[in-house]
Amino acid sequence: MTKPVCLVIGAGAGIGGNVAKKFALEGYHAVLARRSDEEGLHNLVAQITDAGGTASGQLLSATEDGAIEHFVNQVEEDIGPIDVAVYNLGAQIGNRALADTPHKTFELGWRMGCFGLYRLAYVLTPLMEQRGHGTILVTSATSAVRGNKGQHSHAAAMGGRRMLCQSLNAEFGPKGIHVAHILIDGAVDAPDTLGKMLGAEMFQKLRETRGGEHDGLMLPEKIAETYYHVARQHRSVWTHELDLRSFSDTAWWNHD
Ligand SMILES: NC(=O)c1ccc[n+]([C@@H]2O[C@H](COP(=O)([O-])OP(=O)(O)OC[C@H]3O[C@@H](n4cnc5c(N)ncnc54)[C@H](OP(=O)(O)O)[C@@H]3O)[C@@H](O)[C@H]2O)c1
Repeated sequence: MTKPVCLVIGAGAGIGGNVAKKFALEGYHAVLARRSDEEGLHNLVAQITDAGGTASGQLLSATEDGAIEHFVNQVEEDIGPIDVAVYNLGAQIGNRALADTPHKTFELGWRMGCFGLYRLAYVLTPLMEQRGHGTILVTSATSAVRGNKGQHSHAAAMGGRRMLCQSLNAEFGPKGIHVAHILIDGAVDAPDTLGKMLGAEMFQKLRETRGGEHDGLMLPEKIAETYYHVARQHRSVWTHELDLRSFSDTAWWNHD
């Protein structure tokens, strides 16, 4: 019997790669796509296969016209029906005042945060609808619910991502397609994103002060357990929105 496919768009060594691994070890074939790091991609695929799962991967620039559509069709044809799709890439373009956010930068955030998810849903939902089931898990960030200075592009893109999830749910939930917006409200132990943004030294310091036994950095392998749980929920009890944070973090609605 062919395995169901879990497709992860934006699969680095943090949430994306760990979600792919979790699903693979639970019996899915994981397909990982990330933008630029070919060696990192091979390492993640190898980690999954070494652990006894099956996985494959490809570099993909999700903001390029036609790329997601082509990739989804290719996976469906060559590997099998996509049962779970995870839209994981972020829309972080750094902390920028409005005057430092030119049109192109603002648009790039929107392409990553919102338009890419629209394109994934546009190509995938007809296929899932034909099959009568499917799950789309969407990683999100605090900026989806709270704008801030320096976050013009990021917050607009992630807020749009959240509203798109709600709209997709309204149309496709009754057709058997589960869309979940998963808000990550805190820092993740993610070397390929937060690690690169902070730089090696600061990231190492963060790991030492808040990671490990402190449990103040969100562990991506633990986040992955929630993704799997949500994908397996009975349709009488679907979660559409949830947020995750470390026990020691202040929730987004309680910040000054
Ligand atoms: N890390 C955090 O602290 C944090 C906090 C709150 C929310 N989040 C959310 O978590 C998600 C990311 O998870 P993560 O931080 O753990 O990262 P991750 O899964 O380790 O990596 C995400 C990967 O997305 C890929 N990517 C970026 N732009 C892409 C594009 N245009 N096309 C295809 N792939 C692309 C990058 O690939 P390459 O490396 O190959 O370029 C990157 O490695 C985002 O939705 C973000 O908003 C993260």
